[in-house]
Amino acid sequence: MLRNSRSEFGSATIVLHWTIAALILGLTLIGFVMRRTDIDPALQFSLYQWHKSFGFTALGLATLRTAWWLVERSPAPPPGLGALEHIAARMAHGALIVLALAVPLAGWAVASASTLDIPSFYFNAVVIPHLPLAKSEASEAFWAFVHALLGYVTLGLVAIHAAAALYHHFIRRDAVLVRMLGFGTRSHHLRTPDAEENDDPIVERK
Ligand code: HEM
Ligand code: HEM
Repeated sequence: MLRNSRSEFGSATIVLHWTIAALILGLTLIGFVMRRTDIDPALQFSLYQWHKSFGFTALGLATLRTAWWLVERSPAPPPGLGALEHIAARMAHGALIVLALAVPLAGWAVASASTLDIPSFYFNAVVIPHLPLAKSEASEAFWAFVHALLGYVTLGLVAIHAAAALYHHFIRRDAVLVRMLGFGTRSHHLRTPDAEENDDPIVERK
């Protein structure tokens, strides 16, 4: 199913979630490596171009993800989740949604404010125009700082988020990780209360 149900994530949410997660982790690694001064300049140039191309891809998918998140209802929280835990999870997910947009936008601002004025080739196919920002070393340094700061804050939050998912899976033994992996709670021994009580009767009859 493409759409979320009351107890399970649909394939659209799942595919977007894991694609964006892989892109963010890969981009953080490339970003960290390409900033090193001791690497070959030709390799550094192509890493920058790959970083920008995959970064724009992440921005496009994060925009889709945000629109989807705003129109789609998320499945009900797992059983036994306290009110505070629920609020913390909602806040963390909201922050991840915002950061997945803010980090690449700040990266785009770095490329746009740079006095080097290097075009951003999207996978060597099209040139993505710069944002209308004044070009100066101070502005480039500012956006580079914002981009790096938000990038590493995202990495920290993702680490906490992933640790929470593992905690749910191995300690709480609920369906939180399983349902985001797309295995479905109905066919699994771990169930959410919603899968039993509130599910769409039409789906239930199949
Ligand atoms: C979700 C997407 C992105 C992530 C997670 C990400 C992450 C990072 C990280 C971790 C660094 C290294 C920061 C440092 O250690 O100083 C970096 C640098 C950089 N990123 Fe990104 N980035 C993303 C998207 C983009 C996009 C879309 C662009 C441009 C179109 C971009 C342009 C740059 C540039 C130019 C630098 C080097 C900044 C400098 O010279 O200090 N990034 N990125
Ligand atoms: C790589 C490690 C990651 C793991 C193991 C992981 C795991 C999970 C799991 C199990 C859920 C389901 C939570 C629930 O049922 O309420 C979830 C939801 C979510 N994750 Fe991740 N995630 C990872 C990375 C990321 C990244 C990088 C982002 C950043 C954009 C992200 C954003 C979200 C959001 C926004 C939700 C809420 C989905 C919704 O309610 O519609 N995750 N994640």
